Amino acid sequence: MISFQEQEKIFHLQGNTYSYILCVKDGMLMHMYWGKKLPSADIGCLFALHGEGASFDSAFSRAPMEVFTQEKGYYGQRAINLVNPAGDDLLSLRYKGHRIFAGKKALTGLPSSYIEDETEAETLEIDLRDAFTGVVVTLSYTVFRDFDVLARSMVILNKGDAPLTLTDAQTAVHLPRAEYEIIHLKGAWARERHMQRIPMTQGNFSIKSRRGASGHENNPFIALVSPSTTEFSGDVFAMTHVYSGSFSASVEVGIDSAPTMMMGLCSDVFSWKLEPGCSFQAPEALLTYAPDGLNGLSHRMHPFIRKRICRGVWRDRPRPVLINNWEATYFDFTADKLFDIAKRGADIGCELFVMDDGWFGKRNTDNCSLGDWVVNEEKLPGGLKALADRITSLGIMMGLWVEPEMFSPDSDLYRAHPDWCLHVEGRERTQARQQLILDLSRKEVQDYIIGSISAVLRSASISYVKWDMNRNMMEGFSAALPAERKMETQHRYMLGLYRVLSEITSAFPEVLFESCSGGGGRFDCGILCYMPQTWTSDDTDASERVRIQYGTSLIYPASSMGAHVSAVPNHQTGRTTPFHTRCNVAMGGNFGFELDLNKLSPEDLACAKQAVDTVKKLRAVMQQGEYSRLIDPAKQNGRSAWQYTHQNQVVVCIYQDYNVPNMSIWYVKLTGLEESAVYEDREHGIRTTGAALMNIGLPCGLAHQDHESWVYCFEKL
Ligand code: DGJ
Repeated sequence: MISFQEQEKIFHLQGNTYSYILCVKDGMLMHMYWGKKLPSADIGCLFALHGEGASFDSAFSRAPMEVFTQEKGYYGQRAINLVNPAGDDLLSLRYKGHRIFAGKKALTGLPSSYIEDETEAETLEIDLRDAFTGVVVTLSYTVFRDFDVLARSMVILNKGDAPLTLTDAQTAVHLPRAEYEIIHLKGAWARERHMQRIPMTQGNFSIKSRRGASGHENNPFIALVSPSTTEFSGDVFAMTHVYSGSFSASVEVGIDSAPTMMMGLCSDVFSWKLEPGCSFQAPEALLTYAPDGLNGLSHRMHPFIRKRICRGVWRDRPRPVLINNWEATYFDFTADKLFDIAKRGADIGCELFVMDDGWFGKRNTDNCSLGDWVVNEEKLPGGLKALADRITSLGIMMGLWVEPEMFSPDSDLYRAHPDWCLHVEGRERTQARQQLILDLSRKEVQDYIIGSISAVLRSASISYVKWDMNRNMMEGFSAALPAERKMETQHRYMLGLYRVLSEITSAFPEVLFESCSGGGGRFDCGILCYMPQTWTSDDTDASERVRIQYGTSLIYPASSMGAHVSAVPNHQTGRTTPFHTRCNVAMGGNFGFELDLNKLSPEDLACAKQAVDTVKKLRAVMQQGEYSRLIDPAKQNGRSAWQYTHQNQVVVCIYQDYNVPNMSIWYVKLTGLEESAVYEDREHGIRTTGAALMNIGLPCGLAHQDHESWVYCFEKL
């Protein structure tokens, strides 16, 4: 999978469908190729052509460095920015040596993709050294046997005798000159991860989060695609960050129209003092090349995230159908009210009841008590244990909401430790949702969270935790750090958070953790390393959810998305959609309810029960199957379709925003079926060949209302 040609000094990294090729030339590590798999790396002769010809500055825009720094006439964006005691930030990295070994190392302090057995991956480490500062940069590349994703990371080690200041660390890849378009996932609260596709032009395009979380606005993912790329064909080059904090992703295009794509920390809110002998571990980036379109990208990323990012006992288990009380009660509940909601859920087959915000301290609204993780016995007499015992006596599991990274100014914790919040002395402590952020860069704060949350989880039979985080950093600085290290706070916070998550999730391995950040404000591969599912969005409106889930699915598998049926008019949009459509859309992820089932009409309750039965029957297909997007709602005026394929089963979900009068039928063409095999959907009386389903498609459109939806389940005979 990884070879080194000694004579030409060429490294060839081969996945099942991609090649990634590097070369050492005049001591410099050069990037030669990333794309469709090549049988051998016998391309030195082609490389010789690079670097020649007329260029005002130098050859390096054509034979690019693997780690961009400012030297030899390169003026573009740098991958590493390191200021040395002489005050300059020049860096001349030269090849020192390399190692190729079986397996993959974990990253110190940071989440990363992993292996279960050494034979399933090979890793190349290359050391580059700057003679002036003594800095050694070790690049790491892991090729996986069973997954077409290349994992890249780097460690920057100060081997000199003076402190250095690191102000940027990016994973960069240069692609040859061609026409490309940029795809990324843009959004906002309640409108997360809509796919945006724009032409690539000369200049610098970047998306960023400076919020201390990956954020609702931009997801840590970026791709370059050929203009002709569709869901089903065309080249895709994608980068995804395994990190949950501030980030930047960019595409820089020079005069020669050749792009450099980068993904890394956000230099606006980051710097790091590197003392002699100390090293800095930069986050991992996942590089995915797909020659077969955007579905090809998803087909590579979904199994990889499911199996080599997510971990723990819940990774492969069917995810429970849950019922959550948030939109049913908000803060206004009693133990009896919760029990009634849970009971009706259990009656129709729900497997987990989740008690959301409001069970602790004196929290009857969102202005107090975060940080005081002590049950409110006025609301819940007998405490968590009494409620959990009642809930579990229904034969279902009990789950709990927490927001451990925060505290309210009106809390015992804040009164005891006002300095534990991220702030700058003398300046305003900006509140958002009337709360402040705990300084997780401090060990004592991490320990407090580990201790208090563990005590809660030990106090009752809790099988699920919804780990929320409802605001971003404004004065994102630690009072405990000296001035020259203040800009380290955001990254130190992430290291602290990862330590907390690692301790708690390993102490409670049977608990299913779901992350949340005002909905989907921290939906990334970093957090998925600890919690295998994320609450996709606070927006549960079916029409909006189609778009949110459609965009999210570009990278993230259905098993990572929480998707719930809520009441109408929808609490976020005021829109009313049919009950069965809300169910059909929620089947696009880990299915649940976010309403009081006791308030449903008998017809809707029957529909809810039927949906639960369907989810249980089909969840292996939907949570573990191959997911393909068929019709993009943004392009087809609100019509959308997606398909799951698992072994002999094929499930197709179709959605239509508006009913158009006097309109002809439209067809949804399926994908990836066996042409000559026969597929049958008994319920709809369809029995035909794969070829017919892929070339004619399923007829749709005869609706009697807006927001109509259909689900087809085929069996390959
Ligand atoms: C934001 C979450 O996204 C909601 O689902 C809910 O848990 C609230 N926080 C509770 O405060």
